[in-house]
Amino acid sequence: MNSLPLEGRSILFVGGKGGVGKSTTAAALALHLAESGEQILLVSTDPAHSLGDLFDTSVGDQKREIIPGLHALEIDPEQEIQRYLARVKSTMRHYVQPAMYSEIERQIELTRHSPGAEEAALMDRVTSLMEEGPTSHDRIIFDTAPTGHTLRLLALPEIMAAWTTGLLRSRERSASLGKAVDRLRGREEARGDELAWFDDVKEPATDERTQKIQEVLLERQQRFSRARRLLLDPKMTAFILVLIPEKLPILESEKMFKVLKRHKVPVAGVVVNRILPKNQTLGEFLESRRSQEAEYLERVEKAFAKLPRVQIPLLSHDVEGIDALREVAQHLEIDR
Ligand SMILES: Nc1ncnc2c1ncn2[C@@H]1O[C@H](COP(=O)(O)OP(=O)(O)O)[C@@H](O)[C@H]1O
Ligand SMILES: [Mg+2]
Repeated sequence: MNSLPLEGRSILFVGGKGGVGKSTTAAALALHLAESGEQILLVSTDPAHSLGDLFDTSVGDQKREIIPGLHALEIDPEQEIQRYLARVKSTMRHYVQPAMYSEIERQIELTRHSPGAEEAALMDRVTSLMEEGPTSHDRIIFDTAPTGHTLRLLALPEIMAAWTTGLLRSRERSASLGKAVDRLRGREEARGDELAWFDDVKEPATDERTQKIQEVLLERQQRFSRARRLLLDPKMTAFILVLIPEKLPILESEKMFKVLKRHKVPVAGVVVNRILPKNQTLGEFLESRRSQEAEYLERVEKAFAKLPRVQIPLLSHDVEGIDALREVAQHLEIDR
């Protein structure tokens, strides 16, 4: 068939609908590249982690060596939020007077479960890894969450810009923090507008404090822009779409492909997983499935005509452990 063009591309994203074989593909690819002599960092950003099961070992939030040449880690959203909020708190200390610390920290704690907190925290880690990964490893491979949300967010400059002001700028949070600050400062009337909070807290800041916070925000913004540049650079990055020859996964992948294309994320190819094995008699039941599969494969050919496509057969067993991953990897044609 075809092969995935991965030469020189040191940041790989593997994405697709839930359950189609993203983790399997990412792990098989990582194993294959590591066994070919490369230094690989495999990172799971999907909260439904399975790298540990795949490699039959424990994989945690910090990178550890799984086999020679292959390091892995699973990002833990809870811990990430913890770290993220700790950073926000320490940043806040540059803004506000010591008397307000405890109230502000309490308010920041309340943002922990707000929508977007997890994503912001996750993106902080992903952007850091995108930069660090290729310096200490030949490649970094991200096993992404089903929706490809992460990536879409990363591709959107507006959202990235919003993140530079972090969690604190969203309407509810700034309103409640603003009120808290107002209360603490004995104001009679709390200001209602969205950005009031920043105005309020900037007042007591010395020039030095203001400068410090600007540096922090600028650093973050620059890191996001650098990550975005990396993401959109086809010499650096390749997105690999995984699907199975069934209706919904194909539809979802078509949608994802469109979004990725629209945002100019370089898509390197499609992995069509769990194809009914050829050269085997399957019995009447599976033969009829095979004819349905043929139709879906045709649809895949059409929808992704411009992309390289590789196929992985359905194995007679789940993919667990190094040997099974090697078996999968055999089918992953790549140019590296
Ligand atoms: N080619 C295959 N043959 C047999 N089982 C497979 C194959 N690919 C994946 N699986 C199994 O399907 C399940 C889902 O795969 P997984 O890689 O975890 O999907 P995802 O990461 O996309 O949610 C796992 O139990 C895995 O072992
Ligand atoms: Mg998975």
